[in-house]
Amino acid sequence: MTRDQMRQALHLLPMPVALIGARDGDKHNITTVAWINQASWTPLQVMVSIAPQRYIHDMIVKSSEFMVTIMGEGEEATVYFCGTRSGRDLDKIKELDLATDPGEVIAVPRLKGALANLECKLVQSLVSGDHTIFIGEVVAADYCKDSRPLVLCQGELTTL
Ligand SMILES: Cc1cc2nc3c(=O)[nH]c(=O)nc-3n(C[C@H](O)[C@H](O)[C@H](O)COP(=O)(O)O)c2cc1C
Repeated sequence: MTRDQMRQALHLLPMPVALIGARDGDKHNITTVAWINQASWTPLQVMVSIAPQRYIHDMIVKSSEFMVTIMGEGEEATVYFCGTRSGRDLDKIKELDLATDPGEVIAVPRLKGALANLECKLVQSLVSGDHTIFIGEVVAADYCKDSRPLVLCQGELTTL
């Protein structure tokens, strides 16, 4: 089997779609991720895999906290925008005119009206291949069940 075939096989794995938020001083940035999942039940933990060249990567390393905002049906344009533009070059929150609420425990703001916001404190980082896996403990959260979560499968955004 060639590497390309192995990549195509991997493409069949459905992945949840979220925005990772982080803050560095006055700067608040949000970045799209699909390599994210629950990592532990007790304590509640999530893991997210982020490439070192992403602006959000060093923001998490510096602040040791991050927000996971689970994205729902109808938010595809925001997902693509935040996944193709860098916070180094522009303020994504301002460009998209997104409303925020302060975090309850961490300094990173929540996105208003999101399906779910999970406030995470960094507990472990692991460099693995060309990405860093950040493991965060969920210390506060909000959610609503107004839409269905987006997943990425075979390169397309869809819902389950
Ligand atoms: C659907 C989708 C999923 C993505 N998943 C990831 C991911 O899991 N990890 C990652 O490092 N980058 C991922 N990216 C790429 C980043 O979101 C993208 O490089 C972004 O512009 C980085 O922004 P930043 O420099 O402001 O952090 C994804 C992009 C898209 C469109």
